[in-house]
Amino acid sequence: MLKQNLEILENAEQSHILTREEIVSLLADDTINQDLFDTADRVRHKYVGDEVHLRALIEFTNICKRNCLYCGIRKGNKNVQRYRLSKEQILDFAQKAVNYGYKTIVLQGGEDAFFTAEILADIIREIKKNNVAVTLSIGELETKEYELLKNAGADRFLLRIETTDKRLYEELDPYMSHENRLRCLDDLRRFGYEVGSGCLVGLPNQTLESLADDVLFFQKIDADMIGIGPFIPNEDTPLKDAKGGDFYQALKVMAITRILLPNINIPATTAMETLNKNGRIIALQSGANVVMPNVTEGEYRQFYALYPGKICINDTPEDCKNCISGKIASIGRTISTELGFRQKMID
Ligand code: SAM
Ligand code: FES
Repeated sequence: MLKQNLEILENAEQSHILTREEIVSLLADDTINQDLFDTADRVRHKYVGDEVHLRALIEFTNICKRNCLYCGIRKGNKNVQRYRLSKEQILDFAQKAVNYGYKTIVLQGGEDAFFTAEILADIIREIKKNNVAVTLSIGELETKEYELLKNAGADRFLLRIETTDKRLYEELDPYMSHENRLRCLDDLRRFGYEVGSGCLVGLPNQTLESLADDVLFFQKIDADMIGIGPFIPNEDTPLKDAKGGDFYQALKVMAITRILLPNINIPATTAMETLNKNGRIIALQSGANVVMPNVTEGEYRQFYALYPGKICINDTPEDCKNCISGKIASIGRTISTELGFRQKMID
């Protein structure tokens, strides 16, 4: 182990500052991994405590006008059965999630033109009657659409930058621009959303320097939530032969993010559990404090096929709630009964 890397970690635990070179040095040194995960776990405990926030995820449409090269529900994939939930189905799943005790409903989907901001605003207003938080994860919209959805009651928005490497982003996301992604994140902040972003780890031609830039970007925009997942190649996409991301590399990027942004919300992502059967629990012990159980019912789960091996596709929402609750209790953590907004800094 590079002694220097231990010192870097010790300093960062106090200062929450790392340079680009220091992040690269930590990412390149796998002998430091356990120390890094333990440091992130201590920072998590100190700043956001031992409660885990559960967010109920509804995957409400897999229809998408985009063609991101890595994504299984990209427009060009003819092998996926497409679906779009009705307003009634979405509200039914949301109501059941509320009854299960979830305090946040996350509406995630492809960029599906059917769901205009007006239609979504109606759905959000209905869900908000239950005194829960609403998170949206529906991609790039016009400024006025973000405004309308915020006014309808949406609290948070997840929009991963995917990679801050502009050239790589524009190669992997045809007809999309890095500048527009930044404009969206800026709009979300201005309208008062809690802003979530994040990146994929293990994209083709992604470097350690570029991953370091991603983490520094999250700190620069003072993100409220960061979701980090390994890229998992999907055989129905142009990146089917790519190598894909490594579980521990993704975990390291997540842990470094926790150290630099001590009080934010960080999910233990589904993609992590796909690569490691205990992935979400390991993530919860390496800096994460959020889990997003799927509450979509029936066959839709399997059609929302971003990547192969996605967990829980044959489970019911009840199975998922019981499973994750048991796992969280088994590591001595508790499930939050609060809405789970970003904690105020205490340091
Ligand atoms: N359309 C919305 C958007 O683009 O933000 C939300 C849905 S999109 C499918 C959600 C996330 O899935 C993306 O931000 C991306 O990081 C992730 N994702 C897509 N394909 C993936 C893959 N092959 N492996 C891992 N994660 C993937
Ligand atoms: Fe649209 Fe993935 S390409 S959600």
